[in-house]
Amino acid sequence: MDMTRRSFLAGGAAFGGLVASARLPAFADGPVLSSERGKSERLTISCHHIEAGASKPFSVLHISDTHLTAVYPDENEWTRKFMANRSKTFGGRQEEALRDSLAWAKEHVDYVMHTGDLIDAQSRANLDLVRKYYGIDGATMGGSLGNHEFYHGQKDETEEGKADSREMLSKAYPFDISLSSSIVNGVNFVTIDNVYGAVTTEQASRFEAEVKKGLPIILCMHCPFNTPEIYRSALKLWRKHVLKINTTPNAKSWREGYRDPVTKDFVAYLKALPSLKGILAGHLHISVQARFSPNAMEYVVGGNYMFHGEEITFS
Ligand SMILES: [Fe+2]
Repeated sequence: MDMTRRSFLAGGAAFGGLVASARLPAFADGPVLSSERGKSERLTISCHHIEAGASKPFSVLHISDTHLTAVYPDENEWTRKFMANRSKTFGGRQEEALRDSLAWAKEHVDYVMHTGDLIDAQSRANLDLVRKYYGIDGATMGGSLGNHEFYHGQKDETEEGKADSREMLSKAYPFDISLSSSIVNGVNFVTIDNVYGAVTTEQASRFEAEVKKGLPIILCMHCPFNTPEIYRSALKLWRKHVLKINTTPNAKSWREGYRDPVTKDFVAYLKALPSLKGILAGHLHISVQARFSPNAMEYVVGGNYMFHGEEITFS
């Protein structure tokens, strides 16, 4: 990534074109729906450490699955009804949860990474919130997309099904939505779109080009790669068929794993990759960590709509 003016101002650490969290704006509208909650009751943060081989220690707040449900009064009827319903599903406090997370990050960590489902479905109001919270020129968070970023009422969970949304999402999100790389203190954060559990040949070869940079890598994406532990934990919340569709394409069980040949090869390649030091993911709405490979743990963070996040310190 080029040294931009923003990253120069942030002291040289370029991270998705964003600045250090100390420079996050204070979103002034503050707690509205739970104004009586105390400072320590606002968020549930779990804490982890990754020895990645950074040139200097730093920290990241990892959040995922905020599921914003904003809609303007003049948007179409389907969108208004859907958002009203889903606002009840997620509790109606999702934007407050995001603001609290960013306020916490500003005080306690160096960067923020959001691994998708920032919005629950496409609406003009939601995309305005994406621009607001990612900030102009990506000033706020690094990120990847989730399956809900592509949702507009029709379920076509294929690469072809994403096609009509790509241009719009690319304009709203301040990073390359297919794959992007940001280097912080010698650690390469690679974010990919794997929102239906699979990766494409193009993504796999772009990832290999990232590996050639010779830096430790943290892979950030929406759907976790299954491990037996993650699958078992997820089954307590999700029905089997949901997990099949979303985390193991075409798989009959986690044992069969990645039957999509490209994804299967990609996972095998990652498992044997010494420079892969960690994986950050979301999607499951539970907090679970499991070993992915001899060198990398996988960290799945709980739903941000429930005020969850994880602080990861790096050395
Ligand atoms: Fe998701």
